[in-house]
Amino acid sequence: MSEKKRVLSCIQPTGDMHFGNYFGAVKNWVALQEEYTCMYGVVDYHAMTMPYNPKKLRENTWELIYNLLAVGIKPENLFIQSLVPEHAELGWILNNFAAYGRVENMTQFKDKSQQSSKGKEGFISVGLFDYPVLQAADILIYRADYVPVGEDQKQHLELTKEIANRFNNQVGKEYFVLPEMLRTITPKIMSTADPARKMSKSAGEKHNISLFADESRLRKQVGSAVTDSGDTEPGQMSAGVQNLFELLTAAENSAGHDQLMETYNNGTLKYSELKQVVADTLAALNQQFVANKKELTQDKKAIKNQIKQASHEIRKRAQQTVKEVKDLCGLSNIRF
Ligand code: AMP
Ligand code: TRP
Repeated sequence: MSEKKRVLSCIQPTGDMHFGNYFGAVKNWVALQEEYTCMYGVVDYHAMTMPYNPKKLRENTWELIYNLLAVGIKPENLFIQSLVPEHAELGWILNNFAAYGRVENMTQFKDKSQQSSKGKEGFISVGLFDYPVLQAADILIYRADYVPVGEDQKQHLELTKEIANRFNNQVGKEYFVLPEMLRTITPKIMSTADPARKMSKSAGEKHNISLFADESRLRKQVGSAVTDSGDTEPGQMSAGVQNLFELLTAAENSAGHDQLMETYNNGTLKYSELKQVVADTLAALNQQFVANKKELTQDKKAIKNQIKQASHEIRKRAQQTVKEVKDLCGLSNIRF
């Protein structure tokens, strides 16, 4: 029997998980567990790269663990990055195989450094700059074959492959696996308040619909979704309406989608009806997830133990890689 292919992906504990994260990435993570060896990291080292609050970081990390479990990630596949410090060690080693000029060109760095410089202290950390190299370490340390992420991560994946290639060339061996990006069917969910920008945590509260939101808030947000953006050609569907249909597809309500699309095509669609169906569809998912979370958080201690155990098991693979990498690149490797 051939060994199962390995899947790795990560998410930052920087705020509430929203429907963009779910449909764009995490829903797919759940499905992939059937077929692959999966590892999903809550990457708290990454969350330190922007101004942050230490107490909140730990709270957010656990909140995100509960959320991921509530949507169907298996506890044995879930780890916390800082419990596997070898990520940071490999990150340092890989810094020496990453081209400065390439790292400097990452668009996520450009966006986030702008956001960071607008903050109170106008401070941009070296960590934010170096973030993609740590991400490369997250992936290469487990020799991941596939990395399921949204379209926004494409550049980081390309950089990861370049780093792996340079390392392999230098040590004269195909040591690191070159990972492939796995795209979801739903690459991008837009903000309902402003369909020109993507739904995201950092854009502010009204730009994302939390997966675990209060149902009344969720319904209000969908109810007030922008449908006419004013810049649409006659006969062309506006970005806001497209996004509402996209949400129905992503949530697999194809009956609702097709029926409403028919009324759109014959010119009788009422936006209020479309919003009602979208709100009902998202609310049904939300109710299920909130109930799951309520049940599983009754025993937080049990969860803590499960995640500790999973991180410990996953760490063994990371330790093995770092040991081999140190051997290959001439670092001392005496066991104490
Ligand atoms: P982040 O919230 O930036 O840590 O992203 C976690 C995952 O969700 C990544 O794989 C992103 O590509 C994905 N993601 C975030 N926002 C969206 C969105 N609006 N639409 C689709 N995917 C998204
Ligand atoms: N950079 C990713 C994001 O912003 C999060 C991330 C960190 C990641 N390390 C990773 C994603 C490794 C996939 C694999 O969403």
